[in-house]
Amino acid sequence: MDAFDLQLHIDPGLVHRILDQFALSPSGAHGATHWARVLANGTRLAAQTGARVEVVQLFALFHDARRINEGADPEHGQRGADLAREKLGAWFELSAADMDRLYDACAYHSDGRTDHPDVTVQTCWDADRLDLPRVGVSVDKRYLCTLAAKQRELREWAGERGSRLLVPDFYRDEWGLSYTPPKWARAR
Ligand SMILES: [Fe+2]
Ligand SMILES: [Fe+2]
Repeated sequence: MDAFDLQLHIDPGLVHRILDQFALSPSGAHGATHWARVLANGTRLAAQTGARVEVVQLFALFHDARRINEGADPEHGQRGADLAREKLGAWFELSAADMDRLYDACAYHSDGRTDHPDVTVQTCWDADRLDLPRVGVSVDKRYLCTLAAKQRELREWAGERGSRLLVPDFYRDEWGLSYTPPKWARAR
């Protein structure tokens, strides 16, 4: 059960359109289970940072959508940003200013940057980084942008969900996707 009232601002159909073109496993390290946790992290952060929550939720879906492997893929953020720009107006609607935010957030999310001046972009990057424990990497506060993400309670909440590979309720209930955590994660 989700520990907070999470309101989805995106159409579940968009998730399926993005998944239809996704080259990797939905339950892999950069798949839809990760997107769902990033969305939850970002939505929680946005309530404190004042980020544009719709942009943060779209970032969750697009930022890793064009990955072609689970390892080094330095251009994947740029490809995700290009996909979002290409599908604007066809798959989703967004103002020009918010599209620019979404584009920057996706294009530069894996460069280790913390210097973007826009709080929505900062919130997107933090939402992604707070899910690093899913691959056994602990979060380094120096790579977080917002004070909200640096708070211990929120980091631990996100880290627990990531390290146990839990997915938010909406993954099944709203997106209609199925997922069984690996045995080791269930046993914890
Ligand atoms: Fe990424
Ligand atoms: Fe990611």
